[in-house]
Amino acid sequence: MQNDQQEKAEIDWGRDGLPVSKRFGEGYFSDASGLAEAEHVYLAGNGLPRRFRPGFQVGELGFGAGLNMLTTWRAWRESGQKTQLGFTSFEAFAMTSEDMERALAPFKPLAAIAREFLVAWQPGAEHLRLDGLDLSVVWGDARAMLPLIEDQFDAWFLDGFSPAKNPTPSFGRATCWERSRATPAKAVHSPHIPLPDTSADHFQRSVLRWTAAPVLGESGI
Ligand SMILES: C[S@@+](CC[C@H](N)C(=O)[O-])C[C@H]1O[C@@H](n2cnc3c(N)ncnc32)[C@H](O)[C@@H]1O
Repeated sequence: MQNDQQEKAEIDWGRDGLPVSKRFGEGYFSDASGLAEAEHVYLAGNGLPRRFRPGFQVGELGFGAGLNMLTTWRAWRESGQKTQLGFTSFEAFAMTSEDMERALAPFKPLAAIAREFLVAWQPGAEHLRLDGLDLSVVWGDARAMLPLIEDQFDAWFLDGFSPAKNPTPSFGRATCWERSRATPAKAVHSPHIPLPDTSADHFQRSVLRWTAAPVLGESGI
């Protein structure tokens, strides 16, 4: 449930109808192919659905509109898994349900599962259990929250905004890519978590961002 401690996401809508964060001046998805991007970068990039197994846990930085979560949950169900997918996402700025619905509307293949999620979702909720999904959202600045989480994850989706586009004073010039990097950096380098075998370029840029190293250029999908 949304509480006074939670900051709300302020959204502008681009000409393409996709959400842009007023605070960060950056789009939530690269463009209308956001679903293809989620499948390519985060699923294929993490060897999914091939690596799915009972008890699989995904960690994500930046819950946003939940596009990556829905894409993963749908893939989990389609892969025939009978247990719950664990999906834990870190987010500082909660989108309203209306904004989420509007943001997700262009992604027609997700329409049914998005509806299933949105009717059950309360903005600011910390946990939601649905058919095949155990969702946890850790609210607050990921840099502060990450060190408090001891869970082990089988895959990380590093989907914060670019540090270069983050002039927000309360976040310094940093986003969730920077600092508090120990957990995901350790996780992605853990021998138990294979580095993604596709999209290596994008993924390594993400990891580099976590280590606050300069990242040049943009990666496509
Ligand atoms: C690119 S969007 C994420 C899109 C999302 N993964 C999806 O599938 O809809 C980046 C998200 O990171 C969040 N964010 C940025 N800096 C953060 C921080 N320091 N801590 C937590 N969340 C942060 C933003 O509020 C935004 O929702």
